[in-house]
Amino acid sequence: MSMQAYELRDDDRRPPINDVLEVVQRGLRLQPKRLPSWLFYDERGSQLFEDICDQPEYYLTRAEIDLLNVHAGDIAEVLGEDVRLIEYGSGSAIKTRMLLEQLRSPVSYMPVEISPEPLRQSVQSFSELFPELTIQPFCADFTRPLRLPVPPRAPRRNVIYFPGSTIGNFEARDAIDLLRKMRNEMGEGGGVLIGVDLKKDPTVIEAAYNDKAGVTAEFTLNMLVRLNREIGSDFDLSAFRHRAHYNPMAGRIETHIVSARSQEVRVGRMRVAFGDGEAMQVEYSCKYSLSDFATLAAHAGLKVQHVWLDPQQLFSVQFLVRA
Ligand code: AVI
Repeated sequence: MSMQAYELRDDDRRPPINDVLEVVQRGLRLQPKRLPSWLFYDERGSQLFEDICDQPEYYLTRAEIDLLNVHAGDIAEVLGEDVRLIEYGSGSAIKTRMLLEQLRSPVSYMPVEISPEPLRQSVQSFSELFPELTIQPFCADFTRPLRLPVPPRAPRRNVIYFPGSTIGNFEARDAIDLLRKMRNEMGEGGGVLIGVDLKKDPTVIEAAYNDKAGVTAEFTLNMLVRLNREIGSDFDLSAFRHRAHYNPMAGRIETHIVSARSQEVRVGRMRVAFGDGEAMQVEYSCKYSLSDFATLAAHAGLKVQHVWLDPQQLFSVQFLVRA
């Protein structure tokens, strides 16, 4: 691995921490109230998300790993040799490892991640697993335009890897914007390798976001713990509940934090009134049919070139190229 691989590049465009207060106050002025789901991922939230992935009800991670067990070789064949693999987020070490093990002479691996610590861990573990591989970590918000570092040699193609169905956490318009941004960044001849969760029996989907052990509920409410710590708000944790409901018309899980009574919360200089049962929207997890997703991709100027499914047909990994 080259020396440059150890330098964490930072594109200086991460939001300063006091922006969190502004974002939260803005979201709490909306009707209905609404907070962005990136607020879940402080250190504890990232750990809780990993715990969610181990819950028996949360089929997504297992299905994607099962899929890679069967198809990683074939995926690598389609991607071809001399690929530069750019991963948006760096949270999925097992899946990335399974893919990198199959890739033929990859030019470099570039995890793009907003939090420096997970990025460092990812560099550490991949440099041990793949000592020959050039790793170019990039500390940045992948939803913003990126200035990609120069690769060690010319890649045959850039492939943006976006596993985990994180695309499902973006509403259609934002998902299209993100796919369009990927289309620009990957360049001519590039591709997007993306994990997409599929529509299925709503009870299966709903159970995945309401695990019996209560890990998802803790993950959701940890957002309030984070806000109390970071912006000094005074959310009373015992007076709010997690609710995740599948909306079949919209094809998505809608996660809310629900006020268990009428109450007032201090957020900076603002006092925010919550009614009894008032719901604040914190996350969407969109589910797609194959044709839904092909239509979404087409709006971003991309076409689906390959689709792989896990043996139970719960989850898909798709390879998108310029239309
Ligand atoms: C990261 N993302 C794909 C997860 C999902 O399934 O929407 C986040 C999550 N939220 C609750 N459980 C998992």
